Amino acid sequence: MFETNIRLISMLGLLTIVVIISLLLDYLRILRRPVRLGLSVAILGIITGFILTLNAVLPTNHFYGPVFSESRTSLKLVALTFDDGPYPPYTGQILDVLKERQVPATFFVLGQNAAKHPDIIRRIAAEGHQLGNHTYNHVDLLKLDRQAIITEIAQTNKVIADAVGYAPHVVRPPHGFRDAVVMDVMAEYQLKVVEWSVSSRDWVNPGAEVIAERILGKVQNGSVILLHDGDGIAAALSRDQTVAATRIIIDKLVARGYQFVTVDEILKVSEE
Ligand code: NI
Repeated sequence: MFETNIRLISMLGLLTIVVIISLLLDYLRILRRPVRLGLSVAILGIITGFILTLNAVLPTNHFYGPVFSESRTSLKLVALTFDDGPYPPYTGQILDVLKERQVPATFFVLGQNAAKHPDIIRRIAAEGHQLGNHTYNHVDLLKLDRQAIITEIAQTNKVIADAVGYAPHVVRPPHGFRDAVVMDVMAEYQLKVVEWSVSSRDWVNPGAEVIAERILGKVQNGSVILLHDGDGIAAALSRDQTVAATRIIIDKLVARGYQFVTVDEILKVSEE
């Protein structure tokens, strides 16, 4: 929808200047008759900035370009996605759970972590899971220039390709944040931008039961579930709770008749 190559941050900067000047004109009693034009422009500027920002951070809108966050389907399909790994021992533990239950998932990995643990990347691929690009350093892409965004995704694709022989064709920007330039780079590199529809804030470790309940309360046909096997590049926090929650989520959803698929498979259903 929004097809210009202007950065969100530049637009917000420009809007801030417009708001300040408008408020100043209002304060100096210029542009007050017949309506308070200065004040009106300032309010409009603030609202516009707010809307532009919301569209950059909310996972389910297409304002800056098409993103995939869930499938509209009558089939009982869901996709599990894990971000920020690989991160031992948790990624391995999640892979064990998935293997036991014969459930495929999609891993949006960080290039930096993948470079340290190519063995885990190979295991993810060998066990039938999908790999996705989650950038190299887990930085907010809204703050990077075009060339730096390209470096983040190209480096990550290279590390993954070095490990498994092919590069991913799906990407999830850190925090889901994107603007027109981020979307343009992804299109240029033929990477589909994948967000999510069900999240649980598992990254703050609220308890395995809480994580599972939040997910189970929101899941519907075609949901894309966001979980974290990693902890950014800090790699400090435990992911024990996510491992335990994954077990609960799979067992409960299987009992409800759901089938698990990769992001690619749920995308295909969406396109049909
Ligand atoms: Ni992340």
